[in-house]
Amino acid sequence: MRRDVLPFALPTITDAEIDEVVATLRSGWITTGPRAKRFEHDFAAYVGTPYAVAVTSGTAALHLALEAIGLRAGDEVIIPITTFTATAEVVRYVDAQPVFVDIDEDTLTIDVARAASAITARTRAIIPVHMAGQPCDMDPLLALARAHGVAVVEDAAHALPACYKGRRVGTLGDLAAFSFYATKPITTAEGGMVTTASPDYAQRVARMSLHGISTDAWQRDGVEGSWFYEVEAPGYKYNMPDLAAALGLVQLRRCDALWSRRATIAARYDAAFADLQEIATPVVSPDVQHAWHLYIIRLDLDALEIDRAGFIRALHALNIGTSVHFIPLHLHPYYRRTTGHRPDDFPVALRVYPRVVSLPIYPSMSDDDVADVVDAVRAVVTRYRRRGALAGVTVAPALAGRA
Ligand SMILES: Cc1ncc(COP(=O)(O)O)c(C=O)c1O
Repeated sequence: MRRDVLPFALPTITDAEIDEVVATLRSGWITTGPRAKRFEHDFAAYVGTPYAVAVTSGTAALHLALEAIGLRAGDEVIIPITTFTATAEVVRYVDAQPVFVDIDEDTLTIDVARAASAITARTRAIIPVHMAGQPCDMDPLLALARAHGVAVVEDAAHALPACYKGRRVGTLGDLAAFSFYATKPITTAEGGMVTTASPDYAQRVARMSLHGISTDAWQRDGVEGSWFYEVEAPGYKYNMPDLAAALGLVQLRRCDALWSRRATIAARYDAAFADLQEIATPVVSPDVQHAWHLYIIRLDLDALEIDRAGFIRALHALNIGTSVHFIPLHLHPYYRRTTGHRPDDFPVALRVYPRVVSLPIYPSMSDDDVADVVDAVRAVVTRYRRRGALAGVTVAPALAGRA
């Protein structure tokens, strides 16, 4: 058993990021400036989209995307029930209504057929969440949205650099929101990005990310550092500082390498757990590149003597950190109270939720760390396999004697 705790997630920071941050500090320009501009430019080029606007979080990116499409009080926005609260809370910011839809059992992404049944005359947008880094089934979803004149805002918080049928996530919907939170595929500590192919949306997002100040006015006046500006709308304070963009610039250059390490770890897990009947490894759709932000296994609770809490406790006893993604939103007090949903309104999410466990998957994990996770999961499964299925299996010494 490993001596120290393997954290569930860690950012992967090298001297290159540290040097760029220090250079930014020494430059005298620490808030939004040349590095944020360059990060937007490089990010747009990487994703293959005309416009990218850097902001302070993935939540801010989602908020500004919905603001740009003109979401108003009373409108409805269709979102999957299994996601982080940010996806739904931004809808509530303007008193619009999140309309929850159950997930696909295999991919944990929005069930497109159910999304179709949820469309009403008030639907303004759909927010597909590329869960864990796996792209949603975008073609039918986009067709549905087009047929009803509804906007699509991708929640790509997990999904750099995911692809769907050869197209990068971030280019598929009308707008997309990325997150650069500390544990995300690339990080700026806190940060986010809106991508879009629409110059109008891009301009609106940029303007509203900084007090509704018209960027045209700056340009018209010409002189850098000019005092003149014009306020066009009551905007927000969501602009990404250069200090964060410094991290982002370097992380983006390393994005392919970071992804490749995550994909290697996922492949190791897939192979290592293939023979275990008691857990299911992630299902990856054909024709996608998974970003592997998360590696979510599913427990067959009928085949184990412990529940998910027991499984997590047993892994923690072996010094392996884990997490759970996500508690379906209607089980949280706020959404329960305001939507009146009952737990079994979303049967797939409710069936999946007690079974999911996210294992550590991040680029700075060494091969030994990966082997430790594999050994620990195998030991716990072996130890707690239901009796009768135990014949011929040796209990791992580290776990022998545990209740
Ligand atoms: C699916 C999803 N959407 C949006 C967000 C919000 O991103 P941020 O934390 O950068 O605001 C997260 C963050 O964890 C997320 O998991």
